[in-house]
Amino acid sequence: MDIQKLINEALKARERSYSPYSDYKVGAALLCENGKIYKGCNIENSSYGASNCAERTAVFKAVSEGEVNFKAIAIVGSKADCRKDIMKDYAYPCGICRQVLSEFTDPDSFKVIVARSENEYREYLLKELLPLGFSRDNLS
Ligand code: THU
Repeated sequence: MDIQKLINEALKARERSYSPYSDYKVGAALLCENGKIYKGCNIENSSYGASNCAERTAVFKAVSEGEVNFKAIAIVGSKADCRKDIMKDYAYPCGICRQVLSEFTDPDSFKVIVARSENEYREYLLKELLPLGFSRDNLS
């Protein structure tokens, strides 16, 4: 897996962020098992609760195109007033996005890469970020 490329795609996605209310721009790049990458950005709304996170945008784009097997996601986020390629901090996925990712992945192997730049990143397994999660197994 080319982590730098995935982060780069997330940085590109961040440029499309629609975030006039928070001024916080997030980009995500979701890598499918087949090598395809789906990008997503956060999309806010004047009715704040109607906003969508970058990670979920990427997941929903991919799933709606028939992709359900995923390897990893790279996430970058920062207030808008920073360099396009270097974030001010690490943007960890929110709880809802962790849950949505868990629906379509194996938390024991799916990787979450949280990056400040192409060369500065932290890598986790989803199970580390969402321990003891609720899943479809609970419903069977
Ligand atoms: N945001 C994301 O896109 N992903 C996350 O995991 C956390 C937060 C967005 C939502 C909102 O548009 C902005 O960041 C500030 O909360």
